[in-house]
Amino acid sequence: MKRIGIILGWLVMVILITGCNQKPKIGFLMDDLNNERWKKDKELFVQKVEELGGIAVVEVANTDPQKQILQAQSLIDQDVDVLVVVPVDLLEAGEIVKLAHRNYVPVISYDRLIKDCNLDYYISTDNINIGELQANYLTKISPVGKYALISGPKSDYNAYLLRLGWMNILQPLIDKGDIEVVVDEFSNFWLPDEAYRIMTNYLKNTQDVDAIICGNDALASGAIIALKDIKKNGNVLIAGQDANIQAVRNIVAGDQTITIYKPIEALAFAAADAAIKIADGEAPSNMNITVNNGKRLVPAILLEASIVNRQNIKMTVISEGFMGESEIYN
Ligand code: GAL
Repeated sequence: MKRIGIILGWLVMVILITGCNQKPKIGFLMDDLNNERWKKDKELFVQKVEELGGIAVVEVANTDPQKQILQAQSLIDQDVDVLVVVPVDLLEAGEIVKLAHRNYVPVISYDRLIKDCNLDYYISTDNINIGELQANYLTKISPVGKYALISGPKSDYNAYLLRLGWMNILQPLIDKGDIEVVVDEFSNFWLPDEAYRIMTNYLKNTQDVDAIICGNDALASGAIIALKDIKKNGNVLIAGQDANIQAVRNIVAGDQTITIYKPIEALAFAAADAAIKIADGEAPSNMNITVNNGKRLVPAILLEASIVNRQNIKMTVISEGFMGESEIYN
């Protein structure tokens, strides 16, 4: 009898200990992995969550907002403690927040803001500032001329924020009559084909363009191909974003003027750290700003991005270990 009592006692203890030590489970809902950067975000996020003692479960919606909602439900059913979301659609993802809250799961919006809902946290870069950095750089070189603006899709709030940044810089020059915006379009996806379509459509009537500001490097590469078709690559200023390998090579080749290097590692680590803290019942640190998402002031972390040009490639992406020198120059 005494023996059975001891065994039972042990069993209860084991159950209690394993129950208390359950690892925090973090769901990471991503849009797609088409753009190079997202593979890095994914890898770094999972690495950090695991390093902090948690389990990360990743789902990729491949640009389908409804699929992302189903994936959210599935992760909630798998008892995730926190959801980190790269929303496919800025509004439809509000449904994810509702589903999560019904199950007491807090939501962190990653890189892109989820609009008009009771979002808990937002971790990103200062996207208006990125737009300003791009436009500022190009207008310093060419304060007069014809500018084409190619934004990302309207389903991504970052596309609007970047354009806001561009216009902060361009508007005074447009008002002075120095700059004319000859193309101003939102693409359907963050893909090269989109910018290629937009630019070839413009270039079939005229070759008159001095600068092209693009929402990201994928779009910039499509614009460069359109310029190559008419042998004008290298003669038009081009700004992109993400510091992807092709863009940095294009900068070296003289076909692209700048890209923007986002601190992906800091972003992924900050999100992983916040998610684990929240799962452990603690308040996340460094949420030192709030961002209005149309419904509430969302506690946020906004990191700074930096410019990569032909002169500072070594001092930026290479020295930060974001890419190897041989990858660029081979
Ligand atoms: C945006 C992001 C960009 C780019 C793009 C394509 O939301 O801000 O850095 O990667 O998505 O996925």
